Amino acid sequence: MINKNIQNAINDQINAETYSSYLYLSMSAYFNSINLPGFANWMKCQAQEELIHAMKFFDFVNERGGDVTLKAIDGPPTSWDSPAHAFEEAYKHEQKVTSLINALVDLAIAERDHASSSFLQWFVNEQVEEEASANDVVQRLKLAGDKGGGLFMIDRELATRTFVYPTATQTA
Ligand code: FEO
Repeated sequence: MINKNIQNAINDQINAETYSSYLYLSMSAYFNSINLPGFANWMKCQAQEELIHAMKFFDFVNERGGDVTLKAIDGPPTSWDSPAHAFEEAYKHEQKVTSLINALVDLAIAERDHASSSFLQWFVNEQVEEEASANDVVQRLKLAGDKGGGLFMIDRELATRTFVYPTATQTA
């Protein structure tokens, strides 16, 4: 049986991950609106990944006999000053999510909930990747510039990202 404090904190995290999906889907719409389909594709893949994160938390609460409570999702911003600005905001957002995951780990340790601590390690590792992949695009935009040929090249690269729905063993 899951501890109530952890259950409530994970319910908040389901909301945060779903909001992340909404934020990146909004960024995808923004990139479509400024004719950067590769950037839009990258963000749409990211939005799908965030829903998988939310589902992992959802399944964990259910498996441990807890109650999932879904809360209202805030509306994300709908426009950014430039592609670089959107990716800087995505990178900042991932840093914020990392701090939320770290706080969950701290809570699991304080509550001596070893099953939750173990489960959360997947997210600790995932956040290293999440921050790195957003920051990678921030740095490339800095090097190549936020306009013209450099931007077009990055757009072509980001068009190659694909979202693969995880298998049952990867989501477990
Ligand atoms: Fe679910 Fe991007 O962290």
